[in-house]
Amino acid sequence: MIYLDHAATTPMRPEILEVMRPYFLERFGNPSSLHAYGLEARKAIEDAREQIAHAIGATPPEIVFTSGGTESDNMALRGVLRARSGESDHIITSAIEHPAVLETCKFIEQLGHQVTYVPVDDDGRINPGEVEEAIRDNTRLISIMHANNEIGSIQPIAEVGAIAASHGVYMHTDAVQSVGKIPVDVTALNVDMLSISSHKIYGPKGVGCLYLRKGTKLKPLIFGGGHERGLRSGTENVSGIIGFSEAMRLATEDFADNVRIQRLRDELIDAVLRDIPYTRLNGGKEYRLPNNANFSFSYIEGESLVLRLSAKGIAGSTGSACSSKKLEPSHVLLAIGLDPVDAHGSLRLTLGRDTSEADVQYVNEVLPEIVDQLRQMSPLYAYRDEG
Ligand SMILES: Cc1ncc(COP(=O)(O)O)c(C=O)c1O
Repeated sequence: MIYLDHAATTPMRPEILEVMRPYFLERFGNPSSLHAYGLEARKAIEDAREQIAHAIGATPPEIVFTSGGTESDNMALRGVLRARSGESDHIITSAIEHPAVLETCKFIEQLGHQVTYVPVDDDGRINPGEVEEAIRDNTRLISIMHANNEIGSIQPIAEVGAIAASHGVYMHTDAVQSVGKIPVDVTALNVDMLSISSHKIYGPKGVGCLYLRKGTKLKPLIFGGGHERGLRSGTENVSGIIGFSEAMRLATEDFADNVRIQRLRDELIDAVLRDIPYTRLNGGKEYRLPNNANFSFSYIEGESLVLRLSAKGIAGSTGSACSSKKLEPSHVLLAIGLDPVDAHGSLRLTLGRDTSEADVQYVNEVLPEIVDQLRQMSPLYAYRDEG
């Protein structure tokens, strides 16, 4: 199989598993224990915290370990509002956020707060001026993702962060897709909170963190023994945290590989747009993650395409992994102006460190054939208006 779904998850690097292994076996201690086993686990966690903080320009106490991107997003949005009990507050977010943010916003609305969803342009980017105009007296938080998981569009976070700061509003960004692919530095980005997930950067699943700038007022969502400075109780996922920090270290070390990945991705985009008629690239070219390609092929269904590609040994996706089981068109593709029919014919291919030139060539051979076969069966294609 050729795996081209790195935005959904990544294969764990064997060297990361090796670093984790002792923490399942001989170094199994509970980091809260006072004996040697506990101290060893505590030291490992604090070293990991330091490594992760260093990678994003933060200080170690500003890193709160969580179960991943979803929890970090929930913690940021709900935690900030919980720190202001009883009042009706306002949050600004974008129309193309991951469900971890959008569904949290729906919940927040049910609690009586207000949410503004700023639109994006055809390239999938917000306009910082529109974000500023949306700020009200009771705006507490702006949450805009750093890079989109479906179309790879990169947002002007530093600019929005500066606007937020000048109005005394907290700024959160979901950097789950951007870490390891483009520079992520919390000071350069002007953010108070930033979500990261380990499994998108070749680390283990079920672990991540929220960067929480010193002084940011936030209340916990999970109560218990007071772990993570009382912000996230529960015995730490020691082996996961060790694997996560090694993944961050390796991502920094291998950052230059993004140039090779981007070259392959551009080759793929050029070939697909050249060889397959009635095709569009979703999302702009300039502000785009180096590994993301997202196409719409008119007159066919993304689901059929993904299944046929899979039968030929290629793993891709339509929409995001989370929404691909719903048969509704992707909210991201609708937000960039696609009509629902074209939004249904989307294919996301996301490359990774294991993607080779031969893989891309194979896709370029197989994809035009499959699209053509599906179109031959499509009444929409047969009666298309060539006008
Ligand atoms: C942008 C974005 N945010 C959040 C998440 C959720 O992260 P996790 O799977 O670690 O909960 C994902 C995963 O698909 C994502 O792409």
